[in-house]
Amino acid sequence: MGLPEPRTDGTAFVTGASAGIGAEIARELARRGHGVTLVARRRERLEELAAELSDGHGVRAEVLPADLTDPGARAALPARVEALGLEVDVLVNNAGFGTSGCFHQADVEREIQQVRILVEAVVDLTGRFLPPMVERRSGAVLNVASTAGYAALPRMAGYGAAKAWARSFTQAVHEEVKRFGIAVTALCPGPVETEFFDVSGPTPIENVIPKPAWVDAELCARVALDGLERNRVEVVPGRAMQAIVAAGRVTPHEVRGPLFGRFFR
Ligand SMILES: NC(=O)c1ccc[n+]([C@@H]2O[C@H](COP(=O)([O-])OP(=O)(O)OC[C@H]3O[C@@H](n4cnc5c(N)ncnc54)[C@H](OP(=O)(O)O)[C@@H]3O)[C@@H](O)[C@H]2O)c1
Repeated sequence: MGLPEPRTDGTAFVTGASAGIGAEIARELARRGHGVTLVARRRERLEELAAELSDGHGVRAEVLPADLTDPGARAALPARVEALGLEVDVLVNNAGFGTSGCFHQADVEREIQQVRILVEAVVDLTGRFLPPMVERRSGAVLNVASTAGYAALPRMAGYGAAKAWARSFTQAVHEEVKRFGIAVTALCPGPVETEFFDVSGPTPIENVIPKPAWVDAELCARVALDGLERNRVEVVPGRAMQAIVAAGRVTPHEVRGPLFGRFFR
């Protein structure tokens, strides 16, 4: 069990493939011989990456521009994949952004958009693409969570909670479908240098996690796909973040909460 063997009418459906971690996961999948279907809002970026991957690796690379916060756009995706004559063998739920600041001062509409992309879209796409994998007894799902999902994060309350949801959802579904030969893994990176911090604005993470503990998107993609190959329930790229996560796990919330409240500014 792990990543299914690449096949001509199968595809790896990667959300948030126009930038950052999603683009690197698509590159790594193509390097491993998988055809990809690239999904995000910025069509030109997706088309550039698709050309790079089909030229560089000889794989089939399709683009399906979509705003994944829009339920109607999501509902149309299975038929758009079918119209290409493809079946989704690998689903990568990666698209996202993060809000920060005290919740009582938050832009509630933006918080709701965050839930739509980090939670609702993952439920929806997994609900649409996982059942056919179970029927075929073959497939893999990678959910991009975060180390922000390991502990409640003051000043990133909504983001941390959404990523905790992604971890919990992944762990449960992982157990449910392993008997059908389906791999389900959560990628839980600490900070990664991507456009995330331009889109989300300054976050407390940048002040708290020292630069040597940051990893690059390429390493994230490699660790994620190696984890999926072995059906690991979750993977954390980089030794420094692994150590930070391990320390956090043995520290009770009563201690951690006030400490984070002090440092996450
Ligand atoms: N960077 C980090 O430090 C870090 C750490 C841990 C976890 N993560 C997680 O990693 C994932 C990818 O983030 P990143 O760091 O690669 O950020 P990024 O460089 O900003 O990329 C975000 C991707 O999500 C897509 N996206 C955003 N809103 C979308 C929407 N409404 N519909 C469709 N696509 C949408 C963007 O594409 P368009 O704008 O073209 O739509 C882009 O491709 C996120 O889930 C993030 O929470 C990031």
